Amino acid sequence: MSAKIISGKEVAETIRKELKVEVDELKEKYGVTPGLVTILVGENPASVSYVTAKQKAAHELGFYSIQDNQPADIAEDALLALIEKYNNNPAIHGILVQLPLPRHVNETKVLYAINPDKDVDGFHPVNVGKMVIGERCFLPCTPHGILELIIRSGAQTKGAEVVVVGRSNIVGKPMVNLMLQKRAGGDATVTVCHTSTKNMVEHTKRADILIVAAGRPKVITADMVKDGAVVIDVGVNRIGKTPEGKAILCGDVDFDAIKEKASAITPVPGGVGPMTITMLMKNTVQAAKQAAGL
Ligand code: GUN
Repeated sequence: MSAKIISGKEVAETIRKELKVEVDELKEKYGVTPGLVTILVGENPASVSYVTAKQKAAHELGFYSIQDNQPADIAEDALLALIEKYNNNPAIHGILVQLPLPRHVNETKVLYAINPDKDVDGFHPVNVGKMVIGERCFLPCTPHGILELIIRSGAQTKGAEVVVVGRSNIVGKPMVNLMLQKRAGGDATVTVCHTSTKNMVEHTKRADILIVAAGRPKVITADMVKDGAVVIDVGVNRIGKTPEGKAILCGDVDFDAIKEKASAITPVPGGVGPMTITMLMKNTVQAAKQAAGL
C-alpha cells in the first residue's frame, strides 16, 4: 500500500487564501495593514532562501514588509538596538530574526529583546511559557504548521503514541508540548528521542504518529516505522546541486521506502516547509489585530 501524500503546499495555499480575505478586510474596514520585518544576519544560503520565501508570502498577502539584511559581523548591541527600533515602530506588528545567528551574538539575548506582542515566531520565553501552560499566545510556526497538517490529515491524536525525533527549541520541544495539550490535535502519549536515546528503533516502531526533526538526511529508515504510521518529515537537507545550480533537497526520512509502509507521509519539499511560512503569516495577522484591539 502506498501512503497518502500530505501536501503541505496545498494546505498552505488554502490557508493563505483565507488569510488574504482577512487581510483585505482588515485594510478596508479598519485601515490596518499587517507589518512584518524579517532580519537576516549574514548570508547563510539556507537562511537567505527561507527569508526570501517569507518575504514573498508577505508581499503576496499585501502586508507592509521589510527585509532587513545585516552583515555577519554586526555587533550584538547594534542588533539589539535594531530590534528596539522595530519594537517602537507601530507599522511593524511582527519581528522575525532568522536563526541561526553568528556565534558572537547571544541568541537568547536577542530573542528576549523582541517585544512578546511582536514575537510572531513564538520564541520569546513569555510566549514559550504561555504555550506550555496552554494559554493563548503566538505558537512557533513549524510545530503549529505540523499540528494543522496532522489535524487536516484526519489522524486521531487523542491517546495516540506520538514520537518526536529531535529536541530543538524551534521544533522538537514545542512539538512535544503541543501534542500533550488536552485539546483537538493533542491529548497524545508523547515520547521524545534525541542524540543520547538508546535503541531509537524501539521507540519509533511504536509510533502511530512519527515526527522527525533530526537535521540529518534519511536517518529514519523503513525498518524503524510501524505499518500504517503517519510520518511527518521536518528535515530540509541540501544534498547536492542540479546542473543549473539549484539545491537538491531531501528530508530526514527515507521517503521512497517509508511511503510503502506508512498510511500518510509529508514530502520534502512541499510538506512542512510551506506550512511554517503560512503560520508566520497567520501570526502576523493575529499580531496586527491585537495591536488594533480587534
Ligand atoms: N531557523 C530555522 N527555522 C526558523 C524559524 O522558524 N524561525 C526563525 N526565526 N529562524 C529559523
